[in-house]
Amino acid sequence: MKKILITLTLLALPGLSLAAGVGYPLLTAPIDPHNKASLQRGAQLFVNYCMGCHSLEHQRYNRMARDIGLTDEQVQDNLIFTGARVGDTMKNAMARDDARSWFGVAPPDLSLIARSKGVNYLYTFLLTFYEDPSRPFGANNAAFPNAGMPHVLWDLQGMQRAIVETHTDAEGNETEVVTGFQLAQPGSMSPPEYREAAADLVNFLSYVGEPIQLERQRIGVWVILFLGLALVVFYLLKKEYWKDVH
Ligand code: HEC
Repeated sequence: MKKILITLTLLALPGLSLAAGVGYPLLTAPIDPHNKASLQRGAQLFVNYCMGCHSLEHQRYNRMARDIGLTDEQVQDNLIFTGARVGDTMKNAMARDDARSWFGVAPPDLSLIARSKGVNYLYTFLLTFYEDPSRPFGANNAAFPNAGMPHVLWDLQGMQRAIVETHTDAEGNETEVVTGFQLAQPGSMSPPEYREAAADLVNFLSYVGEPIQLERQRIGVWVILFLGLALVVFYLLKKEYWKDVH
């Protein structure tokens, strides 16, 4: 009997953890690492809207310039607001301790966020801020409930209101689930424009997470071509060596 009970409990465990983890379904981020214009727009949005709080400790401005198709001068003139030089890493303007006292948590460095959380999560996060007067900054997030981050892009997106459904489970416990959104107050961008801006930002963060990815693909093409050529040469050599044996 005891064994059966233990077995049943163990069987129920994954179900329990699933029930606790029901979140907003992830959207698919329509990103293209080869699209330089998108990467440049993403970088622009990042330095304007995110770098007040978040750093990219592993990224240097001049490396970014080269990778996304800008000159050092363009970056110095248009993308650096902190007094940094083009060879510096992308540090934020805010001291960690100030940030912690304002937001309760220090905004994390975002160098590796695309790799740790995934691009679809980031895209969903940027699209699912919604009005919630119970939160300190008036907004909540469906992908990251009770996030300490304000909706910093609200002037672009506007403010949306969540469509909430109450789900009741077999025991009568009620949970509120966000199922969609309604634009309550429009921003300066239309919804498709805002989705594109969010994708550009995610594209940029994905590049930052793995700056070598474009170069690796470029090298990869040459490696395949080389191997193809080597195959032909080796085949001809083999024919040459073996022609007297048969
Ligand atoms: C006013 C300060 C501030 C600005 C500006 C800001 N953030 Fe944040 N961000 C935060 C704070 C604080 C957290 C930590 C939230 C928490 O852990 O509750 C955070 C967390 C995050 C996270 C981590 C989410 C997770 O699941 O752990 C991501 C991703 C993020 N921000 C992206 C951005 C992007 C992209 C921008 C620019 C569009 C931006 N942030 C602008 C304060 C800010």
